[in-house]
Amino acid sequence: MNQRVTVGLIGLGTVGSSVVQVLTQQRTLLQERCGIDFQVKRIAVRDRHKPRSIRVDPQLLTTEVQEVLTDPEIDLVVELMGGTEPARSYLLKAIEGGKHIVTANKALLAEHGEEIFTAAARHQVDIGCEASVGGGIPIIRAIKEGFVANRFLSIFGIVNGTCNYILSRMTAEGGDFATVLQEAMDKGYAEPDPTLDIEGIDSAHKIAILASLAFGVQIPFHRVYTEGISRIDQADIRYAQEFGYKIKLLAIAKEIEGQVEVRVHPTMVPSTHLLYSVEGVYNAITVVGDQVGENSFIGKGAGGPATASAVIGDIVEIGRNITQGSVLRVPHRSYLPQHVRASAMRNIEDIVSEYYLRFSALDKPGVLSKISGILGANDISIASVIQKGRREGGAVPVVMMTHHAQERNVRRALQAIDQLDVITAPTVLIRVENFTR
Ligand code: NAP
Ligand code: HSE
Repeated sequence: MNQRVTVGLIGLGTVGSSVVQVLTQQRTLLQERCGIDFQVKRIAVRDRHKPRSIRVDPQLLTTEVQEVLTDPEIDLVVELMGGTEPARSYLLKAIEGGKHIVTANKALLAEHGEEIFTAAARHQVDIGCEASVGGGIPIIRAIKEGFVANRFLSIFGIVNGTCNYILSRMTAEGGDFATVLQEAMDKGYAEPDPTLDIEGIDSAHKIAILASLAFGVQIPFHRVYTEGISRIDQADIRYAQEFGYKIKLLAIAKEIEGQVEVRVHPTMVPSTHLLYSVEGVYNAITVVGDQVGENSFIGKGAGGPATASAVIGDIVEIGRNITQGSVLRVPHRSYLPQHVRASAMRNIEDIVSEYYLRFSALDKPGVLSKISGILGANDISIASVIQKGRREGGAVPVVMMTHHAQERNVRRALQAIDQLDVITAPTVLIRVENFTR
């Protein structure tokens, strides 16, 4: 005899519709695996009359979110509306009412996680947030449970499906940015406000969540260094290919000598690394643990069905807890609350990386030596140079790869170089990651 767990949803868009669809389609499978019948009792939306991509009993729909938050029969509230407000207030209300929570809302957790998790601990309810990072990849469960025996050294990867889709299409076909972004939006990959994707903010939300769980620290979200892909030029994609690299939007978190480094930026990755071949909507996340070493996860990072897979994983875990009379079996933030520390965040100027630099320089004798002189004076050593074309008296791109250098020195050098009268436009800087340190 199956036990019943009653679910209320907020949101029936890309992810919400897939969750309802998969819960219906896999009902028997879920019963066979956990002996629970998950019943969706209410779904809050903005517009009850909007056409939906799935068939749903109109009686389930409401525009009154309170009907989900305060219904005493609802055990579990699944928040799939997105945004920080009113989602934050709704979840706090549900938690105060003793309801368990599942959410895919990385913006909310990265910016208000502390408040939400503290409230959940106080009211003894569980929170599942697997779908907030990496779409269908079970990375949060891996960090909290599978790798519990490890101290983490670093976590890095591609965590935004929309950006990876755009960069892949721009690289493979020379696709135009705006057209490819529209395709990603049509496929349901992008956030309701796609600026969050293309400016790197969604990736920053995700890596802040992962860093916090892995290192047991609070990450002040405004301290995450964030650059997006909106200024990536076809020229740099082509030069990257000539050097044997592709440009990917990487999210990187490391703990070094008690300091936490968390950053998101376009990065050139070499053809020898697995991230090079991760294309389209796929995400790839590598975790490095002190015992297990390097482990990489690859899977669809966005889209309804993949995300629903993660959401339902959480629904089932909490359902099992409810039916077994267990709660807070695994700490919300991976560490017990009293062991979550404030973090010392490392500034971007303090990182050490290799760099791709594209100068727009007048094609005159002595220009290269002026540039290399300033780089040398700032302790930056050049690994390779290509100068494209010849336009005597005109501007040409001069492209360089550096060896490892400190970002502070690179910024200082570029400030001086960009003031030279032979430089005609601001220098383009893209970090290069050969994964050698
Ligand atoms: P979406 O397609 O825009 O759907 C949002 C849903 O929320 C809609 O059904 C909307 O109602 C409802 N909604 C919005 N504001 C509401 C309010 N104030 N009261 C009640 N309902 C409200 O968004 P989505 O792509 O499914 O994303 C949902 C969440 O999942 C976000 O946090 C997102 O970051 C996260 N996520 C998305 C993906 C993905 O691939 N799309 C992957 C991982 C995580 P109407 O339908 O009536 O407008
Ligand atoms: N907009 C997000 C992405 C959805 O493209 O990765 C998945 O979190």
